[in-house]
Amino acid sequence: MPPDNAKDWNTERYVRDAGFVPELGRAVLAWLDPKPGERILDLGCGDGALTRELVRSGAAVVGIDASASQIEAARARGLDARLMDAGALTFDAEFDAVFSNAALHWMTDREPVLAGIARALKPGGRLVAEMGGKGNVDRVLQAILAVLAGRGIDGRPATPWLFPDPGDQAAALARAGFRVARMEHFERPTDLDCSMSDWLEIFAPAFAGLLPDGERQSFFAEVSARLERVLFDRGRGVWWVDYVRLRFEAVKS
Ligand code: BEZ
Repeated sequence: MPPDNAKDWNTERYVRDAGFVPELGRAVLAWLDPKPGERILDLGCGDGALTRELVRSGAAVVGIDASASQIEAARARGLDARLMDAGALTFDAEFDAVFSNAALHWMTDREPVLAGIARALKPGGRLVAEMGGKGNVDRVLQAILAVLAGRGIDGRPATPWLFPDPGDQAAALARAGFRVARMEHFERPTDLDCSMSDWLEIFAPAFAGLLPDGERQSFFAEVSARLERVLFDRGRGVWWVDYVRLRFEAVKS
């Protein structure tokens, strides 16, 4: 989960309104195919919903996250969860695999993260991950930037996400010493269990932080209003988001 702006990450709200994140992570778990006895690092483990699945497979799992409240929630599930910055991993050749779901795109300074993952893996170890890929949440992002521009603010430098295309990510992995075994880039439009304003409040506080406190609610409302035509399914009364995933397996060479 988001490492940089995680200080006030609201775990209760995340579980209530964003439970689909771990739920949809099951496909990448299948790519990982964890084996009993393997030692696995779950990078950006959040509240541990998927970490628990890894443990159930018989693997020995360590979860790390930069959010203290998420780590507390993961520990409450009985998991070995540690508060750690993914850009400063302290592991050395001790994991058979590193797993990451919906976390790497929050780590905009990618090089130290990939270098730390490579260091944490045993020779021949694998990184199996899913993150936002090029085009991810683009309609939402464009609406945010347009509403900020209307208030005279350039929101682009505050963008807290990195959504690489496959070629770019493969090159970054190669620089860190990985060989890409497989990679997929695909659209995954996703229904929300919450309103667009709720989604924005959970996932896009970095942009609201550019505004004075008193303007934040109206900012989220204005972005939602702009998106209603494109991302609200009137027939079903459901909001959806234009997620695009980048899923890959890379082996430490
Ligand atoms: C994602 O999982 O792709 C994502 C979630 C929240 C904000 C941006 C991207």
